[in-house]
Amino acid sequence: MSLPRRAFVLGGHLTSFIGKKHPDFLWKGHPEFGQRENPALEDYITMAVRGALAATGTPGELVQKSWIGNFAGELFNNQGHLGAALPGADPGLMFKPAMRVEGACASGGLAFASAVESIQAGTDITLVAGAEVQTTATARQGGDFLARASHYRRQRGLDDFTFPALFARRTKAIYAQGDITEDDTALVSVKAYANANKNPLAHMKAVGMSFDTARTAGDANPAFLGNADLAPYLKVSDCSQVSDGGAAMIVVSEAGLAKLGKRPEDAVEILSIEVATGNLYEDGDLFSMPVTAAAAARAYAAAGLRPEDIQIGEVHDCFSVTELLIYEALGFAAKGRGGTLIRDGVTQIGGRLPINTGGGLIGFGHPVGATGVKQVLEVCRQMKGECGAYQVPGQPTVGITANMGGDDKTAVVSILRHA
Ligand code: CAA
Repeated sequence: MSLPRRAFVLGGHLTSFIGKKHPDFLWKGHPEFGQRENPALEDYITMAVRGALAATGTPGELVQKSWIGNFAGELFNNQGHLGAALPGADPGLMFKPAMRVEGACASGGLAFASAVESIQAGTDITLVAGAEVQTTATARQGGDFLARASHYRRQRGLDDFTFPALFARRTKAIYAQGDITEDDTALVSVKAYANANKNPLAHMKAVGMSFDTARTAGDANPAFLGNADLAPYLKVSDCSQVSDGGAAMIVVSEAGLAKLGKRPEDAVEILSIEVATGNLYEDGDLFSMPVTAAAAARAYAAAGLRPEDIQIGEVHDCFSVTELLIYEALGFAAKGRGGTLIRDGVTQIGGRLPINTGGGLIGFGHPVGATGVKQVLEVCRQMKGECGAYQVPGQPTVGITANMGGDDKTAVVSILRHA
C-alpha cells in the first residue's frame, strides 16, 4: 500500500555536521583560527541545496516548490525569512513558491511532510531542505534559545539548560521505576559515538566514548545541570550536540521521476508520513511519548505495515533516554522494555533492527532544522548501500524515521521502502 499519489525521495545531500570537538570546527585554540571562518547559515543552505540538485541530476528550473526546516535562525543568526534563501542557492528556484517551516526540532520533518502533501495535491518535483547554525552562541545561551521549544513561560526556570533538564526529569522518573537503568542509557551513548566514529560527516567522528566514561559522571563526562534535583540524571554524554549543518533532498511524484529520467527503483518510496501534535502548555506523561506513538500508529496503518516489518530506523535521540522511549513509541518494545533492545544489541549496526547507524543526534549531531531531513536521507542511503564504513549488512528495504519537536509535542513519522 502507498500514498494515494505515489511519492519518492530521489536523493539528496548532507553537509558535515560540525561544532565543538569536531576537528574542522574553528575555535580560538585551532591552528587555522583567524585564517578562515566556520561556515554560516547561508553557506549550509547553499551547500545542501546545490549538493541535492547535483546528486540527483535535478535542474533547479524543474523544481516546482521548496520548503526549508529551521528552528531558531532569528536567535542564533539574526536571520529569518529563509524561504527566500533558497533562490540564493540556485537561480532556478527564483519566482517559485518557497517557505520556511518551524516545529522546533521537528522542523525538518515538517518540511518533508509539507512536500509530500503538496505531491498529493499534484506537484511533481519538490525540494526539501533543513539547516541550523547554533555555534554562534555559548552552550548556555543556546540552552535559552532552544528553550523556546518548551512552554517558555512555565518551563524555562527548570534549569539554564531547559531541554536537558526536561529529559533529566523523565530519566529520574524512569530510573526510579526500575525498567530502564543507567547502564541502558550509557549503552545508547556508546552506540551513538561508535557509529559516529565510522561516519566522516559526523560531529563526533573523532571522539571516543567508552562504557565506563558514559556510565560515570566526572571531569571526563560532567553532570552539568544546575538543578541539584535533576543533575544526577544527565551527563554530557547523554546529550545531542550543539551542531551546525545542512541537508536537502529532492522529493517527487511518479511523473516527477519520469520528468527527471528516473525509475522508481532509482528512488525510495514514501509509503506513509504522519504528523501528530500535543499540547505545548501541559507536561506530558514522563514515562512514554504518546504524540510520537500516535504518529507512528497512523503511519503503520497507512503503510499497511507493522513494527516487525521495519528493518532500519532513524529516531530522535535528543537525549539517551529519548531513544529508548521512541523504541517503545514505535512499537519495537513494550512499555518499559525499551532498554532490552539496547542491552541485547538489537539496534546495533549488526543487529536485527539497526537504529541511528550514522550516530544519531548524539553522535552525528543535531543542527536542529536539518535533523528531520538528515534522518530521511540516512535511511535512504542505507537502503541504497551508500553508508561506507557504517553500512548495515544486507541492504534493508523497509525503514522508519521519527523526528520529534519539544518534549514530545510535535512528531513526524515516515515509513520508506526501496524496491
Ligand atoms: N563539572 C560541572 N559542571 C561542568 C563541568 C564540570 N566538570 N564542565 C562543564 N560544566 C558545566 C558548566 O557550568 C558549563 O557552563 P558554563 O561554561 O556556562 O559555566 C556547562 O556545563 C556547559 O559546559 P560547556 O559549555 O563546556 O558545554 P559543551 O559546549 O561541551 O556542551 C552540552 C555540552 C551543554 C551538553 C551541550 O552539548 C548541549 O546543550 N546539548 C543539548 C542540546 C539540546 O538541548 N538540543 C535540543 C535537544 S531537545 C530536542 O531535540 C527537541 C526540541 O524541540 C528542542
